[in-house]
Amino acid sequence: MITKISNINKVVSYDIKKKDIVSFSPNYILIKNGIIENIGFDEINNENIDNSIDANNNILTPGFIDSHTHLIFSSNRSKDFSKRISGKSYIDIANSGGGIKSSIKSLRETSSDLIIDKCMKEINNFIKNGTTTIEAKSGYGLSLLDEIRSLEIIKRLNNLSNIDLIPTFMGAHDFPEDVKDRSSYVDLICEEMIPEITSRNLAEFCDIFYEKGYFDKNQTIKIANQAINYGLDMKLHVDEFEDSDGAYLAAEINAISADHLMHSNQNGLKHMAEKNVAATILPGTTLFLGLDTYANGRKIIDYGCSLAIASDYNPGSNTIYSLPIIMALSCLYCGISINEAFKAVTYNAAKALKREDSIGLISKDYAADILFWDIDDISEIPYWFGADKLSHVMKKGKLIL
Ligand code: NIG
Ligand code: FE
Repeated sequence: MITKISNINKVVSYDIKKKDIVSFSPNYILIKNGIIENIGFDEINNENIDNSIDANNNILTPGFIDSHTHLIFSSNRSKDFSKRISGKSYIDIANSGGGIKSSIKSLRETSSDLIIDKCMKEINNFIKNGTTTIEAKSGYGLSLLDEIRSLEIIKRLNNLSNIDLIPTFMGAHDFPEDVKDRSSYVDLICEEMIPEITSRNLAEFCDIFYEKGYFDKNQTIKIANQAINYGLDMKLHVDEFEDSDGAYLAAEINAISADHLMHSNQNGLKHMAEKNVAATILPGTTLFLGLDTYANGRKIIDYGCSLAIASDYNPGSNTIYSLPIIMALSCLYCGISINEAFKAVTYNAAKALKREDSIGLISKDYAADILFWDIDDISEIPYWFGADKLSHVMKKGKLIL
């Protein structure tokens, strides 16, 4: 199956060789079996073309990649939001019956089919905002059965939806109330969950909430070592509420990415740059928690890290799924330029998922995940603050919006 896109205003994409965002105006893009086969500036005849798409003089960009979401939950936590408005902090709310623990109770009581229906609606919202790949974490089950069930839901969503979901095991999201003590839960993760999940091939990454009150340094290292032994790649939630030297730890354990980084110190960020750990900032969470401690994207880039931005979509600390909005927040509050934000939701987000060789660029041999925008310049993507200017979304060569 060969598809041709023509009548292209321009293509805007990061260019690996030029190390910059480039724009160019080809006559056509040819796609074969979902992969970009050729980007041409000549005239070609339509003899071998099965499907012709008129881009209507739109700007084309790579599909956006959301490299950090907690998509697999069942009910909303608007009550937590109301408590926050009345002055309670994330930790206060968690300690008074809300927080992650309330999402665990609700997920355990909800059937997989109902969760799938809910997630499919949400995935459609992501697509309408230009997201063509979503990393999705488990982490609201926190029992062997419910963590496996959450990851199986991701697998089913991958088959049902038009986009790709990348599964991350996050049994280390919190400590469930029904275990004897914290160290027995760490043992359950290491001895039962990781072996079972990897034997069923249900996850690519393992993530840990390394933060005061959640998983400490020794527990994090123990879980990370076991995950790596079983072939998972590591991600870490670090320095969200205070500086726990999490950025440094992420570099020490050779994580693929460290995420949040709101309070990370210079030494840790520089160590991440040395060890090529992608730095993912999540400004939607800072906004949604009513905080002003945005991660310093400017410094993170200046220290030499690859900066990704993602939504952190979850029921407690952020319900924004639109990456154009997240781009706007990162430009307004994290000190980065529009081009840097654009690279952060395309090429660098692919890097944070170890997929920089197959998605995140409009380039030969990359997946034809392409957004069609009715705009004159990519600065309009964060400027309009939403995706009203998105005309079409293509995933692997097929128009899905
Ligand atoms: O990334 N920090 C840990 N996990 C989420 C919040 C999860 C929740 O509140 O349900 C986060 O912010
Ligand atoms: Fe998160």
